[in-house]
Amino acid sequence: MHEIILNMTKVKVRELVFEKFITADEIEAAVQQVADRINHEYEGKNPLLLAILNGAFIFASDLMRKITIPCEISFVKYASYSGTLTTSKVRELIGVEENLKGRHIIVVEDIVDTGITMDKLLQDIREKNPIDVKVACFCFKPEAFMKSFAIDYLGMSIPNDFIVGYGLDYNGQGRNLPEIYKVVKS
Ligand code: IMP
Ligand code: MG
Repeated sequence: MHEIILNMTKVKVRELVFEKFITADEIEAAVQQVADRINHEYEGKNPLLLAILNGAFIFASDLMRKITIPCEISFVKYASYSGTLTTSKVRELIGVEENLKGRHIIVVEDIVDTGITMDKLLQDIREKNPIDVKVACFCFKPEAFMKSFAIDYLGMSIPNDFIVGYGLDYNGQGRNLPEIYKVVKS
């Protein structure tokens, strides 16, 4: 069953109710400013975007279409979440297959929460000797962050609430919502 639109601002995804939090216009502006910076800083460098499945596929596709310099994309699949709770175990489901040696890597992620997933991926990437690795992330929850890597290109910081939409899911659902919704705490 699809998520139920309860009214203009609320949706139900599985058993949870979510309220509208970030509009499509705000999302677009945030993606554009990330793309502008990448266009400026990677001219002549042919960066490889490494997007993390599943959640980042929508941000990555919007971001890539706003990048106007030559660039490439590949995907990895790492998972740490179960329901609305993060787990400290990160599972690599599809690893880095590309030759990263001599490349400029931009990891593209939907959200950094505790940072555990990204931290693991960054370690794996660095072992493959790229020239440099930067992180482009749509959402960041500073209150939940437990690691120390830099987020070089950030869409927006948000409070420590569970969100869905724009690629982000609740147990697999809600990714197709074009706007971002946050859970209504009961
Ligand atoms: P971390 O390892 O705790 O930083 O979690 C990162 C991953 O958890 C992201 O790639 C998302 O898939 C997922 N995640 C974290 N916060 C949320 C959220 O609020 N909604 C949906 N997924 C989330
Ligand atoms: Mg994800």
